[in-house]
Amino acid sequence: MSIYSYLKKDHENIKNLMDRIKVLGADDSPERVKLFNQLKEVIIVHSKAEEKAFYDPLKDYSKTQDEVRHGENEHQETEKLLTDLTDSSLTGEAWFKKFLVLQESLEHHIEEEERDVFYDAKKVLDGGQAAFMEAAMRTEKQHQEADQTIVKRPNR
Ligand SMILES: [Fe+2]
Ligand SMILES: [Fe+2]
Repeated sequence: MSIYSYLKKDHENIKNLMDRIKVLGADDSPERVKLFNQLKEVIIVHSKAEEKAFYDPLKDYSKTQDEVRHGENEHQETEKLLTDLTDSSLTGEAWFKKFLVLQESLEHHIEEEERDVFYDAKKVLDGGQAAFMEAAMRTEKQHQEADQTIVKRPNR
């Protein structure tokens, strides 16, 4: 596996969790809270590790530096939406509408990453660097998972 297929696997997991939430619809339920908290952790761990293991080294190349800065901005927008969705005063239809915004923007982000960033990264990185990045990604994810600072949405 390379960094590319590793990141793709994470992306599939994120998209899958979002689809599972979407089919639950606009009604509040403990199941939706549980899946959302799981999704939030998976996204934050993935994004933070991705920035360190994949984006940071790509800032050294003029071909990729703008793309990864753009990606970082999108990560920040995602985090903002996740924070809004964690607020327990947001419920029902209003929560669901915001969730759909998150889903759409993340699907767009993932598509850009897999199409544009991967395409240019493959031009500047050799196979050894890509393999090293995959190992770095796994290590970074473990660090992020151990760091229990992610605020969960309360169930009620
Ligand atoms: Fe990303
Ligand atoms: Fe990603």
